[in-house]
Amino acid sequence: MRGMLSLALGGLLLAGGALADPVGNRADGRKLAGQCRTCHGLDGKSQMPVAPNIGGESETYIRAQLTAFRDGRRVNEMMTIVTRNLNDQQIADLAAWYAGHRITVTMTADPTGAPEQCVTCHGADGIRLIDEAPNLAGENNIYIDTQLKAFRSGSRPSEIMAPVAAELTDAQIRAVADWYGATQIAIETVE
Ligand code: HEC
Ligand code: HEC
Repeated sequence: MRGMLSLALGGLLLAGGALADPVGNRADGRKLAGQCRTCHGLDGKSQMPVAPNIGGESETYIRAQLTAFRDGRRVNEMMTIVTRNLNDQQIADLAAWYAGHRITVTMTADPTGAPEQCVTCHGADGIRLIDEAPNLAGENNIYIDTQLKAFRSGSRPSEIMAPVAAELTDAQIRAVADWYGATQIAIETVE
């Protein structure tokens, strides 16, 4: 299992490396973020339950997801339309803007109770420990639940999350979604 995971992570890191250019420009990203603010806010704090928080995610993760929506590897009614006309430079600019904000977490439960299958990558407080993984802190529990089921069914492909989600029953998915969903976050705008 360990070997498989590091293999999958190795593949992801390589893919991340291939996406490393162009370099994002935050000022340009801020302007483009006008197209995102109704749903994600200008600082990346979600404005509606179905839209996740994106402020303070890693640049690597934001870039990978925007590219996946644009190229059809991840599908969502809203995001597929939003990303359709973004070029690689604009994606890099948006990633630089949103990744630059500062996220802080307030725990509502003892961190030692965090789901142990998740903490190596997503942290006990829901802040990522690797740049390829998203923060889960403060995310809506229904959003987390939906994404885990999408990884399990394969409708959202991920070499890393598919085997993790395959091990989980609906009830376990609900429990981990509730754990991370219960943490509170604040996102500080960094200009
Ligand atoms: C009309 C609302 C809407 C707008 C506008 C919108 N988004 Fe989204 N965004 C969503 C929703 C809904 C999701 C969740 C998709 C899913 O369920 O898979 C999402 C998901 C994302 C994700 C994936 C986050 C994660 O944790 O995996 C990123 C990154 C993102 N949006 C960035 C942007 C950017 C950048 C813009 C502007 C260019 C934008 N979005 C505009 C609604 C929107
Ligand atoms: C080995 C590292 C690793 C482990 C362990 C892991 N994850 Fe992930 N997780 C990731 C990566 C990488 C992604 C991004 C997948 C992609 O490329 O779309 C991710 C994505 C997610 C997402 C999507 C969030 C979003 O913003 O769209 C959820 C939800 C999630 N993981 C929950 C969990 C839960 C719950 C566990 C434990 C049961 C877990 N993960 C265990 C690495 C991991």
